[in-house]
Amino acid sequence: MKKLFSIFALATSLAVQAQEPLVIREMKMQQGDNMAWKEMKADDSQWKTISVTSNWDNQGYRMDDTFVWFRKTIRIPKSMLDKSDQKGDVLFDLGEIDDADEAFLNGKRIGKTGRFPSDEGGYSSNWSARRHYHVAANQINWDGDNVLAIRVYNGGYPGGIVSQGLRISVPNSMNSVDTRFSETLPEGKKLADCKVSIANRSTQSVKADVEITATNLETGKVLNRVTKRGVTLGKKPYESVVQYDRQQMVRLDVTCRNAKSGATTTSTHIPKYILTPDAPATPRYNGPLVFGVRPGSPVIFRLPFSGERPMKYTVKGLPDGVTYDADKGTLSGKTDIPGDYRLTLIAENAKGKTEQTFTLKVGGTIGLTPPMGWNSWNCWGLSVSQERVLSSARALIDKGLADYGYSYINIDDAWEAAERNADGSIACNEKFPDIKGLADWLHSEGLKMGIYSSPGDYTCGRYLGSIDHEQQDAQTYNEWGVDYLKYDWCGYGSEFGRYNDHSHAGYIAPYALMGRFLRQQPRDIFYSLCQYGMDDVWKWGEFVDANSWRTTGDITDTWQSLYDIGFNRQPELYPYAKPGHWNDPDMLIVGKVGWSDRLRDSRLTPDEQYTHISLWSLLASNMLIGCDIAQMDEFTRSLLCNNEVNAINQDILGAQAKRVVLDGEVQIWMRDLADGSKALGVFNLGTELLTVDCVKYAGQLGIIHRPSQVRDLWRQKDLPLNTTSLVIPAHGVKLLKVRF
Ligand code: GAL
Repeated sequence: MKKLFSIFALATSLAVQAQEPLVIREMKMQQGDNMAWKEMKADDSQWKTISVTSNWDNQGYRMDDTFVWFRKTIRIPKSMLDKSDQKGDVLFDLGEIDDADEAFLNGKRIGKTGRFPSDEGGYSSNWSARRHYHVAANQINWDGDNVLAIRVYNGGYPGGIVSQGLRISVPNSMNSVDTRFSETLPEGKKLADCKVSIANRSTQSVKADVEITATNLETGKVLNRVTKRGVTLGKKPYESVVQYDRQQMVRLDVTCRNAKSGATTTSTHIPKYILTPDAPATPRYNGPLVFGVRPGSPVIFRLPFSGERPMKYTVKGLPDGVTYDADKGTLSGKTDIPGDYRLTLIAENAKGKTEQTFTLKVGGTIGLTPPMGWNSWNCWGLSVSQERVLSSARALIDKGLADYGYSYINIDDAWEAAERNADGSIACNEKFPDIKGLADWLHSEGLKMGIYSSPGDYTCGRYLGSIDHEQQDAQTYNEWGVDYLKYDWCGYGSEFGRYNDHSHAGYIAPYALMGRFLRQQPRDIFYSLCQYGMDDVWKWGEFVDANSWRTTGDITDTWQSLYDIGFNRQPELYPYAKPGHWNDPDMLIVGKVGWSDRLRDSRLTPDEQYTHISLWSLLASNMLIGCDIAQMDEFTRSLLCNNEVNAINQDILGAQAKRVVLDGEVQIWMRDLADGSKALGVFNLGTELLTVDCVKYAGQLGIIHRPSQVRDLWRQKDLPLNTTSLVIPAHGVKLLKVRF
């Protein structure tokens, strides 16, 4: 392995070193809300002491929909100020606060993030924002007592201050410089723009020399270098736009140097780059080769053909009772007669015509390939509404994702009314004025609708669960036209829940109960268990009629989370995946996510996103898009709409990949495919670009003779058969299909 570049050079400050920060790990805490608590003289002697390195739920407290105050008296040494090359600004880094906060120092407000219920616009969580509050140095009692008071509002589980210790520091003149990058990839254009914005979060502005260098990461060639002297860096960002070829892996290095003191900060970024080739204008089939439906259940299927519109469709070989729409390309109707129906799907447009053989399997098993679609949670969290669901569903069609087999539109938590109807049936809250209308519209487009509930009194978001109403809820789902249920343990196991039998049977019981009622409905409802992998759910999920089961806790858009869930927690689970029954490592974290009404670009780097989609394809995972599709850019679309990559996920053998090589930073996962070939993911989990010697691993991969074809699935190009090494970026992947 040869190390070429280190691409994860963190933003660093050189030359002038500020003193170590003061770290606070514990504070005093009191539930309630009293503005007098911000004052220095307020009495907190009777308050409880709590850690600010973990949420309060982890520390045995449950405080929802409430204010909680934190206080700490701190002595701040003046020596901190003396060691910095600037004297005006002190940084309070308070970590993440679940959900909204307002912070005070010595009675004066120093910052606020998120919104409280009484604020204009109402409550809004911004738990994941890092609280960096800058305070003018003359507001500090140097070498004396200071009181930090933080007013926190928590809207729902979990809550509290989650930091690695609150940090108080006097940054040097460059430490507060914050460089951000954002890409625009105009549709159909070869060149993309990366905007570099350099702001200074300090209360003081500073003059710096700024240098921006663009390097081709694969060849090491410097493409462009621009230097600008004497730039004023203040609150208003300095902006510069770098153009790059969107198919090239480019690295941008930005250096800002204070010409006077020598303090320097650097940051590095790899802008989004597209590997997936453009789809042809002629019709092309991009979907699964099989679809399962139970006898008597409605067939809901949209033919996933890409290509220029308008398109005309013909379907041959359908059983009586099932019909197709020649303009929309949808199948509907039902049949009572089990069997494997061999269909021919034909699509034709002005540019050409194509035919695809396909099996409609009318039998006992549904979910014959992993479900593909969308779920509201990773983007909207509890702020989901019917309008937002509809907007993603429309975009799924308009942006062509439906042409790649994405077909489920799943509403996660927060659709439920505060109380059941008088007859005990479940109702929607005001954000969902017409759920049946939504389902009808989705079905008319050949799409399917999913919903969410819990076996407990409450869901994780503290909405109504299904306990004591399981049968009634299953019937309501049928009336509404629900095609997918995510059933989330949450409130069932909480301290208020009714979970008291901790035996194996105790874990199974609530899922078996709902599974039975779902099966009694005259429609297919994909049953997705969400209980985070407890009691080895993969060993019994199938026997409660589950089609998939979450294997871990919730994913979030960081490498750590992806690495832990994807690489650490899945290797042993391959024996349990098969057509109709899938391991679910949670929803996708690409595109604009946010778990609230504030969306942001996924924090994963482009290569981490390639790794994510490649691994989920190898793992035969549920492919539920977690971002707002209406705001999806070309990069994210290209990640999700690579027909050769998706074909791995949808392979009809349904064999989940095994990890066959684990060698330091290199992991190779291999999956058997129905056509006898193998899919191989060669991952570089390190922070440096690597050249991986493939010959070294041939034995472990069981490769005894030279393959007849090696295909790079992302680029959709065959590699030369004498390829012996692969260059793989940091946290990146080569996804291959190998034929012997
Ligand atoms: C969690 C679940 C998430 C989401 C959330 C809703 O328990 O794992 O995926 O459904 O509840 O409150």
